[in-house]
Amino acid sequence: MKLETKRLILRKPKLSDVDDLVNGMNNINVSKWLASVPFPYTKKDGKWYINDCIKEWKKKTKTKYAFFIELKSEKKVIGALDLLRINSFSKIGETGSWLNENYWRNAYMTEAKIVLMEFAFNKLKLNKLKTYTYSNNKASKGVQQKLGYELMGVFKKDERSKATGKFHDTHYYDLFKKDWKKLLPKLKKDLDKKIKMLENS
Ligand SMILES: CC(C)(COP(=O)(O)OP(=O)(O)OC[C@H]1O[C@@H](n2cnc3c(N)ncnc32)[C@H](O)[C@@H]1OP(=O)(O)O)[C@@H](O)C(=O)NCCC(=O)NCCS
Repeated sequence: MKLETKRLILRKPKLSDVDDLVNGMNNINVSKWLASVPFPYTKKDGKWYINDCIKEWKKKTKTKYAFFIELKSEKKVIGALDLLRINSFSKIGETGSWLNENYWRNAYMTEAKIVLMEFAFNKLKLNKLKTYTYSNNKASKGVQQKLGYELMGVFKKDERSKATGKFHDTHYYDLFKKDWKKLLPKLKKDLDKKIKMLENS
């Protein structure tokens, strides 16, 4: 199964993606914001991770959808977006993401998250999406705010980055389906405008 947008395909990881994965993830500017990613990040790490995702995808009852983000124009994996800790009884899921640094600030994560939200709320019928980020991660906080996530609280020294060993305060966010539905037309309009601007720059 895959999700498609104007510029991206969100799809299952394949072992042949390993070089793109290592290319993006073997970068401390990326891994320092993530909990369980080692640095340096080797091909062995990448293969282990892809195999783990493939196992998840084979499960009949899924609590996680691990999507790789493929840039259509380059046929290259430039990042990942997970919908995880899905509890279909409580109708809640969580998201986690990263992008290769060479592709930041092109609205790719905004575009990927918009289609993932449609999948989570409309197809899986979830009622709430949660996400969290380190309190000093300006980029990630910017993305959540842009997409309508509401800050629910800040937890002190709540997680440790494997890549750096540093402890981080974390911002926790919620997004309810009813609020997302109201916001969606504006999100799509703003994204179209941003893509046109990027194409003309
Ligand atoms: C967080 C991350 C995925 C954002 O991806 P991205 O595709 O560059 O984000 P977008 O271009 O869609 O940005 C959307 C908005 O977020 C905000 N934003 C993004 N990067 C920002 C930055 N470096 N500084 C401040 N705000 C930023 C802006 O408001 C931006 O909108 P604008 O460009 O129109 O001003 C990317 O920076 C990344 O992979 N970082 C390292 C790993 C990580 O932090 N993962 C998330 C862990 S919680």
